[in-house]
Amino acid sequence: MSKFRDGRTVNDKGHLEIAGLDTIDLANKYGTPLFIYNISTVRENIKMFKDALKNYPKNSEVSYASKAFSSVAMYQIIEQEDISIDVVSGGELYIAKQAGFPGERINFHGNNKSRSELIDALDYGIGHFIVDNFHELDMLKALTAERKQTAKVLIRVTPGVDADTHKYILTGNVDSKFGFDLESGQAEDAVRMAQEAEYLQLDGLHMHIGSQIFESDSYILAMTQILKYVKEWHTQFGFNLSIFNIGGGFGIQHIPNGEVTSSKNQLEEIGQSLIALFEEYDLPYPELWIEPGRSIVGEAGTTIYDVGSQKVLPDVRHYISVDGGMADNIRPAFYDAEYDAKLANRMNDKPVNTVSIAGKACESGDMLIWDLPLPEIKADDKLAVFNTGDYSFAMASNYNRLTKPAVVFVEDGKDFLAIRRETPEDFMRFENNLPEDFR
Ligand code: LLP
Repeated sequence: MSKFRDGRTVNDKGHLEIAGLDTIDLANKYGTPLFIYNISTVRENIKMFKDALKNYPKNSEVSYASKAFSSVAMYQIIEQEDISIDVVSGGELYIAKQAGFPGERINFHGNNKSRSELIDALDYGIGHFIVDNFHELDMLKALTAERKQTAKVLIRVTPGVDADTHKYILTGNVDSKFGFDLESGQAEDAVRMAQEAEYLQLDGLHMHIGSQIFESDSYILAMTQILKYVKEWHTQFGFNLSIFNIGGGFGIQHIPNGEVTSSKNQLEEIGQSLIALFEEYDLPYPELWIEPGRSIVGEAGTTIYDVGSQKVLPDVRHYISVDGGMADNIRPAFYDAEYDAKLANRMNDKPVNTVSIAGKACESGDMLIWDLPLPEIKADDKLAVFNTGDYSFAMASNYNRLTKPAVVFVEDGKDFLAIRRETPEDFMRFENNLPEDFR
């Protein structure tokens, strides 16, 4: 048995194994496309973040941004690891509740929370509302006063920093739909309003500069911008920053691409700079909170597809089609995201062709991987696409009425069906026949 990488090995049959399980057996048992999550990797990533925060002189909190991948069982794993979660909708909150996730460790995000979502969250006694805008602030103020129930809040501020990432996943720049702008005075107004509201407990600020960020400078720049204002507000009207939530966004590599800074180093650098900044501004250290999503689940996920048709255009391209694609992983089509893949049933075979992996949706843009070196391929081979744990299943759709894949968790030689595969019959739960008066 030879070691491949990150909990993945190749067995004597030349099959890819994850957590000691043959992925071909798993594909036969659960069907394809199949998402396999190596839960040990999830646990290791959480531990890595906790360790990286250990040297920070005040309390810290890791809050898993569950939009990257949520399921009842995943919330239960997160709870076992004793960290918090972020939810961004009534739907995520509902699943977290179904998982029995403790309310006080749930933080609620979103730029357009509805009144009923706020009520649900208040009913469940969630930890913090990350307040994004005046509409939400007004609603929350009114609701908490009506209910005579105190809600803990952080104000989300937009630091005005352009981080180096894809524009669709950039959030900390001035022209962003998220958060209160600092420069125009909106953030200050929000802080004052929250501070004055009888039933709001303002604990601090939140920022999130974007996603898939590998350097630390943008975080440090954003924190510096914010702290200038914090100092001013502290002097002017006694604002205390008890919690500073610096968001998520720590980058991961979906393809092997040489050395990059690990999230651990990135976070340690950020923590050190934050300490220096608080000393410079002569402010007490706040609690440091982070919200990683991708970096907790991304590398834990592998997708197994069944290979079907091929189209060979001499001197142009060799297309290999698989039984999924943009419906289970929109990231290549949407963000030009790149992935690496191998034949799960013939891991030791040497690449002989450069092929491009096409999805099965009726859409030319449904391509998963361009120009991938692979061995000679035949129908029914199984293709393993690596590092698909972040925002793939989470963004899955039923485009072309494709059914969402099953999700299996594996750990220490055990497997468990976390989310069952959809079937076309599931669609009928939403469908009605045309009534008489429409005929
Ligand atoms: N906190 C906030 C407020 C966020 O908006 C996000 C992600 C995170 C934390 C977690 O970021 P992460 O650590 O996962 O990078 N669908 C896109 C990513 C969208 C990210 C949205 N917000 C993708 O597939 O790349």
